[in-house]
Amino acid sequence: MIQLKSLLLLCSLFCSSHCITDVLLSPPDITNPTEAVTLYKGELDFVVKCEATGIPKPTYQWKRNNQDIPPSSYISYDANTGDLTFKGFSEREEGEYRCYASNVLEQTTAVSVSQPVTIKKYRFLRPDSNLATEPVSIKQYDYVKLFCKKDKLEVVAETINYNWYSKSNDQLQLDDGRLYIDQKGDLHINYAKTTDASDPFGIKCGLSGRSSANIVFGDAYNLYVTPVAQIQGQAPVLKWFSANVVAEVSHSARLECVFSGYDPLQPLPTITWTLDDGTVISTNQKYNVSSNGRSLIIYKLLEQDERNYYCKAKNNFGESDPHQVFLNVTSKPIFYENKAPRDVTVSQNKHVTIPCEARSASGETPPSPAFWYVNGRQTGQHTNQSKIDVKADSLTIRSAQKPDDILCVLCIVSNSNGEKMGEACVNVICGLTLETKVTLLEKNQSLPSMIL
Ligand SMILES: *[C@@H]1O[C@H](CO)[C@@H](O)[C@H](O)[C@H]1NC(C)=O
Ligand SMILES: *[C@@H]1O[C@H](CO)[C@@H](O)[C@H](O)[C@H]1NC(C)=O
Ligand SMILES: *[C@@H]1O[C@H](CO)[C@@H](O)[C@H](O)[C@H]1NC(C)=O
Ligand SMILES: *[C@@H]1O[C@H](CO)[C@@H](O)[C@H](O)[C@H]1NC(C)=O
Repeated sequence: MIQLKSLLLLCSLFCSSHCITDVLLSPPDITNPTEAVTLYKGELDFVVKCEATGIPKPTYQWKRNNQDIPPSSYISYDANTGDLTFKGFSEREEGEYRCYASNVLEQTTAVSVSQPVTIKKYRFLRPDSNLATEPVSIKQYDYVKLFCKKDKLEVVAETINYNWYSKSNDQLQLDDGRLYIDQKGDLHINYAKTTDASDPFGIKCGLSGRSSANIVFGDAYNLYVTPVAQIQGQAPVLKWFSANVVAEVSHSARLECVFSGYDPLQPLPTITWTLDDGTVISTNQKYNVSSNGRSLIIYKLLEQDERNYYCKAKNNFGESDPHQVFLNVTSKPIFYENKAPRDVTVSQNKHVTIPCEARSASGETPPSPAFWYVNGRQTGQHTNQSKIDVKADSLTIRSAQKPDDILCVLCIVSNSNGEKMGEACVNVICGLTLETKVTLLEKNQSLPSMIL
């Protein structure tokens, strides 16, 4: 009897409401990819997946550089599975791909857009195989820097390893740090030895990626070393440092200083790194000072790591002045806490506001105002302004209706470092039913599971 009463109560509530209570709907929710990624593809044939949930089941489309993908034998996608298939992948198909997942809700279609998947052809090429050779003459004990001559190389990879090689392609030994390869691949010879000029001493820089089997070489040098009878000790002098190092938040950065200076008792100067307040930096979880001190790696960058660092070198003949090396820590726009678009479930007739408020890294130009998209289409003249109110940092949907306003909204903000995208899919449920049921059910049960 009591059950019948509640049923009648529920029914009267359902019937008085214009909300469609009998249809369970939910906008597409892309579960893969969920983060912006760059893929370097060496293989010819591969599949990139897109997966989404939603009721009814979503269908898929992929776009490349925001354009529809014309049918071809190289790229195709399956609207039902979301698989994007490449066959015979080459530079021609490189680009930024995004998946669109759609589901049809009565008259409208909710469209969710994925984070970008940037796809590049992984390659280590030297189209012209004739190596040029440049002669370089130096005196024994002199410092010399040789550039890694990579202009003729075409290299696209997530990481590049630099090494130097002899004419017969044997990897050069770094002789306890007398030779040093910096992050651009340039070779520093702290003090030349006559053996460096072993005849004919053609040396060159070689770049490799995932496998050391595939090395491409830059142009070579022939090194001539004039012997010197007697060497005076020399105090350290700064020869090179990494200027203008710019690195992104959460990545790592490498700062470098190379000093000349020869001391028969201690061939390489001792290099120390300090902060403004004179604190000496040593290797720990945050910092890595290389064995000869020429490189300082800073891990997991925070905005506070943007500051000056100082390197100085010492041997028995003297000590250099500290040299300032500035690290610029940048970032794509960063959403303020709780100000990124987020999926939301609202009751019928309620207003819903989607925030999109971001900043740049401290001291940098603020991001552009947000560009807004509703169901994958940029807002504009065609947007119903009495329904959707677009502002620079928020978008409001007035009096949400089921099912027409079940939709996905995305915003893109950008600064000099790139773009950041955020998306919110809005689900609309029948509020009245909800209130009734809340009294019948546990208070903290999650909302979407209550729509029946
Ligand atoms: C420091 O960096 C070098 C070179 O990248 C690496 O071989 C070494 O393992 C690092 N040391 C620590 C303690 O992380
Ligand atoms: C850091 O680099 C960014 C991007 O290249 C630039 O806009 C900014 O002015 C630099 N900041 C400093 C302090 O040099
Ligand atoms: C715009 O939205 C209002 C409020 O929902 C609605 O009454 C009106 O029909 C809509 N206009 C168009 C052209 O869709
Ligand atoms: C509420 O949620 C918590 C944690 O999920 C659970 O332990 C609890 O049983 C739920 N119900 C009530 C009435 O608190």
